[in-house]
Amino acid sequence: MLPPLNHLAIIMDGNGRWAQLQGKPRQAGHKKGASNVRTITNWCAKHDIGYLTLYAFSTENWNRPKTEVDFLMKLLERYLRDEAKTYHDNAIRFRAIGDIDFFSQPLKHLILDLESSTSHYTNLTQTLALNYGSRNEITRACRKIVLASPKLSDDPQEAAKALESTLANALDTADMPDVDLLIRTGGEQRLSNFLLWQASYAELAFTQTLWPDFNINELARIIEEFHSRTRRFGGL
Ligand code: FPP
Repeated sequence: MLPPLNHLAIIMDGNGRWAQLQGKPRQAGHKKGASNVRTITNWCAKHDIGYLTLYAFSTENWNRPKTEVDFLMKLLERYLRDEAKTYHDNAIRFRAIGDIDFFSQPLKHLILDLESSTSHYTNLTQTLALNYGSRNEITRACRKIVLASPKLSDDPQEAAKALESTLANALDTADMPDVDLLIRTGGEQRLSNFLLWQASYAELAFTQTLWPDFNINELARIIEEFHSRTRRFGGL
């Protein structure tokens, strides 16, 4: 049995290359990638993991060819519709972070409905980052703060402390804990605008494995290795 892990985040990269290696269109990689989201989520729900946050569509992904963006939107819509039962059967709470106002009305409704119908579940919180980018999230949070024009202390240290918590509470992740372990599949070693604030003290793990091939054995190995690390949070 693995020790508990509060917040696991994953950058699911490599769908396109996986498909290419199979001589298939990129879409086939995304389809297999979506089915792996289900496998990994269900495994996390059965283990002691509090939060699983997955980078499903970034603010930069709109720059892909329209056919690929349209396919990803349809895939997401189908996923949320077909998987609703999985969330209920496994008592998984669904959440979305990111600016979902950009999505079509039907997709937006699916997201909001699933968020509300699963909001009472406490087994695992699975969060999909949808039209998400940290810079966009922080910018939206700053806008909220500016509009509320909070009264700040004249003492710069007091003011900074208060602003840090005001900002954390204005982020999409307001009531979520910081990320403990962030995994990126697909061989690249970068954060790509994902949870930059929330992963400030996260342990990072990178694997060459392409997302559709990433399985529970490798995930369990990475989590085990994570538990052997000493986290210092800037101290000694
Ligand atoms: C990166 O692969 C993958 C994404 C664009 C985001 C992840 C999307 C999925 C797992 C599928 C949809 C998810 C749900 C929840 C329905 P890439 O295309 O960048 O791969 P490449 O680097 O090999 O081109």
